[in-house]
Amino acid sequence: MQIKNLKFDKGIFLAPMAGVTDYSMRVLCHRMGAEMSVTEMLSAKALHYGDEKTEDLAKFDALTSPCSIQIFGHEPDIMAEAAAMLEKRFQPHMIDVNMGCPVKKIVSNGEGSALMKDSVLAEEIVKTVSSAIKAPLSVKIRAGWDENSKNAVYFALRMEKAGADMITVHGRTKSQMYNPGIDLDIIKDVKSALSVPVLGNGDIYTAADAVHMLEYTGCDGVMVARGAYGNPWIFKEIGCALEGKEYNSPSVAERIAVAKEHLSMLIADKGEYTGIREARKHLAWYLKGMRSAATARVDINHSESADEVVSILDRILTENEKM
Ligand SMILES: Cc1cc2nc3c(=O)[nH]c(=O)nc-3n(C[C@H](O)[C@H](O)[C@H](O)COP(=O)(O)O)c2cc1C
Repeated sequence: MQIKNLKFDKGIFLAPMAGVTDYSMRVLCHRMGAEMSVTEMLSAKALHYGDEKTEDLAKFDALTSPCSIQIFGHEPDIMAEAAAMLEKRFQPHMIDVNMGCPVKKIVSNGEGSALMKDSVLAEEIVKTVSSAIKAPLSVKIRAGWDENSKNAVYFALRMEKAGADMITVHGRTKSQMYNPGIDLDIIKDVKSALSVPVLGNGDIYTAADAVHMLEYTGCDGVMVARGAYGNPWIFKEIGCALEGKEYNSPSVAERIAVAKEHLSMLIADKGEYTGIREARKHLAWYLKGMRSAATARVDINHSESADEVVSILDRILTENEKM
């Protein structure tokens, strides 16, 4: 797949997830084979007001490249200004516009998935942002607003015409939020209608899910979101399946080692207090399915120091190696 000067071998990407796909998560997913990752969504308005915390979320380096920075908002000029500023400051490989977020406080501002109900404004945003940057511009959309307004094909065509270089389709409507069940047909229809690359997204938890998405819809690549929770190896698994190679799942020792590394990266990035708190959900995901995981989770949630957390992870490793 080629998007302007960016070339991708397999089209396996890490999706944006607020509160999850921070720098540390992206490092691990790239290492395991994600070909590009997307930052958490950044408020164009906050960037406009010079909010440094928002800018911090855009951080990436060689270990997390290529990187796409996602922005959200509803004012074309402010979004174009934010995109141009991000490009100048960080030189991301791509800028993505969020048109799929279902969260109330975003939608009630006419942002995220609400833009799928206002294709004139969405088109204006894509036109204005794409003319303000040199990097490729992508748009992440849903199947539509609700079951009665599944307009992804019409909407994606308009975004393409307005200047989008790639479209990601999350095969659920806004009303479905994140409930199980993906409409692969709508992804297939968007892919058939568009000339620019189309990525499929939704419910990819295994290599088989990714292969099915690619084969059924004909999409150019996939974005993995919750399937990467505690499992950055999913990118390697998908890569092996696409290359017809055997995949060996990580051992408990490998999972614990990466969990520890994730913890230490979070602490290095955010300090011990915040790092430990943010690591809790990730560690619970890494430990899923291991013996004594439930007790370890409770103990980790009560731990206040990195040493304490590491000793709980060591304990889990010993207990599981005894099996
Ligand atoms: C915790 C969480 C945070 C998310 N944050 C974003 C975001 O910032 N931007 C975005 O476009 N999508 C966001 N999403 C949606 C995902 O990128 C993805 O479209 C969705 O989870 C469907 O994929 P999945 O079924 O594989 O999880 C988020 C999803 C989750 C679960």
